Amino acid sequence: MAGALKLGMVGGGQGAFIGAVHRMAARLDGHWEIVAGALASTPERALASGEELGLAPDRIYSDFATMAQAEAAREDGIDAVSIVTPNHVHFSAAQAFLEAGIPVICDKPLTSNGADASALQSLVDSSGTAFVLTHNYTGYPMIRQAREMIERGDLGALRLIHVEYIQGWLSEDLESEGDKQAGWRTDPSRSGAGGAIGDIGTHAFNLVSFTTQKQVERLSAQLHRFVEGRRLDDNAHVILDCSGGTKAVLLATQVAPGYENEIRLRISGTKGSIEWNQSTANTLRFSLLGGAPQTITRGGPTAGATAAASSRIPGGHPEGYLEAFATLYTEAATLIRGGSAPLLPTVKDGVDGVKFVEACVASSKEDGAWQQL
Ligand SMILES: NC(=O)c1ccc[n+]([C@@H]2O[C@H](COP(=O)([O-])OP(=O)(O)OC[C@H]3O[C@@H](n4cnc5c(N)ncnc54)[C@H](O)[C@@H]3O)[C@@H](O)[C@H]2O)c1
Repeated sequence: MAGALKLGMVGGGQGAFIGAVHRMAARLDGHWEIVAGALASTPERALASGEELGLAPDRIYSDFATMAQAEAAREDGIDAVSIVTPNHVHFSAAQAFLEAGIPVICDKPLTSNGADASALQSLVDSSGTAFVLTHNYTGYPMIRQAREMIERGDLGALRLIHVEYIQGWLSEDLESEGDKQAGWRTDPSRSGAGGAIGDIGTHAFNLVSFTTQKQVERLSAQLHRFVEGRRLDDNAHVILDCSGGTKAVLLATQVAPGYENEIRLRISGTKGSIEWNQSTANTLRFSLLGGAPQTITRGGPTAGATAAASSRIPGGHPEGYLEAFATLYTEAATLIRGGSAPLLPTVKDGVDGVKFVEACVASSKEDGAWQQL
């Protein structure tokens, strides 16, 4: 596979959010070109969206099933497909492409329910076809730095994890005002059993397992619905017991006015602590017991090899969300070309995320009763 790999996309049509981000991220390092798509839920919008992107007319598809068959039959068919639809479509779209032998890059949460998640994992395992889940925050150099330091034992034995993902955009009933993104996110038939806990709580949960490499063994959750008439949670308070006795608290909210995408991760061990915030993504705070806090900077002298490998430009010039996303696409290209990409989130991470959502919902229904994971 010389040159750029060929990417198809399902979802990400006109007015969609994350599809455009995937396209920018895929192109950033030159490993992908977008050549095909079934970009929207109606044939008319799929056509208009494909034309707007300048796709060849014969590679603009009205639905993903036709696209999977047609691309698999072409000599110059796509090397992978990105699935960036609402959650309930992930499973059937991924299935269509995996069964056609086409690698899949899928956004989170993996599926809208646990049965689909397990079925998808079986399909990935039996097909042997590459599958990548875009938990994009794992691509940040300073998140990878945190993982490297924890693995090396810089913090000692881990005691505490505080992770939060705080938004405010669903503070009002946008779903009743016709906001499409609010509409499917608050609809159980399209989002799944979780609202905020599935939409952003899964990212926070994944950050815990990615950085610490610990298993969450059980959890107790309280999910809340603050906006009247809303059908899914818009706020979540979760306590997690992790392997090795590490205790974690996870907060996810979409009803904190004035907050955009405030992601904060603090991890403390017997020797020291680290703290990372998405709003200052190029730095990691590191403090040792009895010492003054230090700031590790992306590209700076105290950042390690893992951070360097996922950086593009010298320290001091900010990198951010798009670059972190692009790292996943670049590693996906490595994987699909037959190389190894051990830090990429997998279908197993996706299954864990869906189990996490369903365990939070079950726990909350029983007023926070512990649920094993
Ligand atoms: N990784 C992240 O940071 C991140 C951020 C936002 C969203 N997401 C995830 O990405 C997915 C999409 O979210 P969004 O905010 O972009 O949603 P969106 O509503 O903005 O866009 C969804 C797109 O999918 C299309 N679509 C719906 N059904 C389809 C079908 N059957 N075939 C083809 N296209 C179809 C819609 O027409 C639309 O173009 C969700 O699973 C969401 O959880 C991830």
